[in-house]
Amino acid sequence: MEKRRILVTSALPNANGSIHLGHLMEHIQTDIWVRFQRMRGHECIYVCADDTHGTATMLRAEELGTTPEKLIEDVNAEHRSDFYDFAISHDNYYSTHSDENKAFSELIYNRLNEAQQIKTRSVDQLYDPEKEMFLADRFIVGTCPKCKAEGQYGDNCEACGATYDATDLINPVSKISGATPVMKESTHFFFALSNFTEFLTEWTRSGALQDQVANKLSEWLDAGLQDWDISRDAPYFGFEIPGAPGKYFYVWLDAPIGYMAAFQKYCEANNVEFDDFWKQDSECEVHHFIGKDIINFHALFWPAMLETAGYRTPTRIHAHGFATVNGLKMSKSRGTFINARTYLDHLDAEYLRYYFAAKMSGGVDDLDINLDDFVQRVNSDVIGKVVNIASRCAGFINKQFDGQLSATSDNPILAEFSAGSETIALHFENGDYGKGLRDIMALADKANQYIDEHKPWVLIKEEGKRDLVQQVCSDGLNFYRLLVTYLKPVLPRLAEKSEAFLGIAPLTWDDLDTRLTGHTINKFTPLMTRIEPEKVEAIVNASMGEAEPEQEATTEPESPTIEFDDFAKIDLRVVKIVNAEHVEGADKLLQLTLDLGDETTRNVFAGIKAAYQPEDLIGKLTIMVANLAPRKMKFGMSEGMVLAAGPGGEDIYLLEPDNGAQPGMKVS
Ligand code: MSP
Ligand code: ZN
Repeated sequence: MEKRRILVTSALPNANGSIHLGHLMEHIQTDIWVRFQRMRGHECIYVCADDTHGTATMLRAEELGTTPEKLIEDVNAEHRSDFYDFAISHDNYYSTHSDENKAFSELIYNRLNEAQQIKTRSVDQLYDPEKEMFLADRFIVGTCPKCKAEGQYGDNCEACGATYDATDLINPVSKISGATPVMKESTHFFFALSNFTEFLTEWTRSGALQDQVANKLSEWLDAGLQDWDISRDAPYFGFEIPGAPGKYFYVWLDAPIGYMAAFQKYCEANNVEFDDFWKQDSECEVHHFIGKDIINFHALFWPAMLETAGYRTPTRIHAHGFATVNGLKMSKSRGTFINARTYLDHLDAEYLRYYFAAKMSGGVDDLDINLDDFVQRVNSDVIGKVVNIASRCAGFINKQFDGQLSATSDNPILAEFSAGSETIALHFENGDYGKGLRDIMALADKANQYIDEHKPWVLIKEEGKRDLVQQVCSDGLNFYRLLVTYLKPVLPRLAEKSEAFLGIAPLTWDDLDTRLTGHTINKFTPLMTRIEPEKVEAIVNASMGEAEPEQEATTEPESPTIEFDDFAKIDLRVVKIVNAEHVEGADKLLQLTLDLGDETTRNVFAGIKAAYQPEDLIGKLTIMVANLAPRKMKFGMSEGMVLAAGPGGEDIYLLEPDNGAQPGMKVS
């Protein structure tokens, strides 16, 4: 097999928050792939960094009464130790606020400029006169121009789903200072992405992307690409644009360049040639692992920049979906927005590594962490099927045979174990760890069956069966050794402990073809214990409560008193949700079909997408306002409204009548 030279990255976590399950899903997915490649004998360098720049970091530092530099330094230390404790094997975990990144950002920008792909244009934008800064949409709140709901963000309305420009908001205020924003003009720098439609149409079909991703992008490409605004005005925490005082690179310009900077730093310390990997037509590979929310940055902007600046484009972009918990978006109020450290305070990292791996297929579908299933799956597979083999066999070998394994091991089941190696390798290569683990667990089942049939604990009491006991247990430990070899990319620490107990060198993929014979093992030490469900409960409890950093709670306005007649005008009905679907292009809305019990149904759009999966709603009863005048929305006519409690976003709860209520009943 030819030795490959591979550079791998995970998306750079933002430096203004902690590492959570979503980040871990990505880094664990990447790390398994990296460790697998290394076990196959390839050179595989894995780098990452904190994404430090932008307004969010600047404001967060201010809030904490510190400087951005100090903030990102502290966060970097925290992120590193979180990843280290999850056994993520980064070769360098760096920062985008580095000399290397500044140098590369300037170099690439200058090359884009020389290639005449940078344009300037005057832009009108809302400006906070008190704070003296331009405001991105999410820093402006006001009243929705369509439905008049208060406290809506500058780009869309959570209440009615309307999308608009921040300038359309009624009574806009700056979230930062509370001042009324004013319109102000400024010169911005643009990367001429519109010139790259043809290049990208070809590149996105060149095999670097998953089909699903390429299909999605072709919708945008068909519509033609817009130039990309790459500058931000001071005050901004970032790199100043060469020759443009007071103008800074937009964080998303220097973020992917951070991959190069982190790698460059690694190269210096390890005597690797940067250009080998990044020159045009390089034979080395570059792989980016990213979430589906940042595909456009990696599969459109980034390759166009690299191409123009004279570098190679990525070999492959591995996009993944989002982690959900118990079928819902992670949420602080449900205790399912779980930080890396909170998890580690209660459980071993390898349980989560195994569970993620078991549910990964290499596609972009979301991955649900069902907490009951997590406990059950890990306990039954890792402990029940794998670790169990070692603990059953090692005792006899240690106590009865002085740690000595039989001189030969040619059990035909071992041949089956070895025969699976290329198929399983292919699953790992494709990121289909779920399939790989199913094959591995099928082998574990065979091994257990074999031991159950031969019952060394019975044989040992029988006359003249000592050799057989030694053989069965030696074969058992050989089964175990091969299982651990297969599982090593997923469970590196279990592998390490097992190597120590078996008294062997670090396992590689080639070890799948060999057997351990006539060898003396060390004393057995417990390798891994079952997950106690109470630990999971403790994690959820510890994660409960605090508001998510980016969504500050808005205080509810007090309602004026109304007369009974006002209330009586509202026709409230029990309805049954007979269908619920996602709405193409809507971030917040689900489309509900409501049964009113009189053979009529209503179509209603409800802003509850962040809190519910459509399939979980079908069949539920809820309450609707049945005489609300129909409203025409961007996605169709909404014929009424369902009632829910809570501030909104993922923190919203549909009202449900008590048992016995029937569709159509009037609510009074
Ligand atoms: N800083 C940018 C990435 C720059 S890459 C040049 C960013 N940071 S992030 O912290 O918001 O997200 C980092 C990665 O974590 C992204 O790939 C994102 O998709 C992933 N995830 C964040 N939350 C996630 C889940 N809930 N589930 C799975 N992955 C998610 O984007
Ligand atoms: Zn609205």
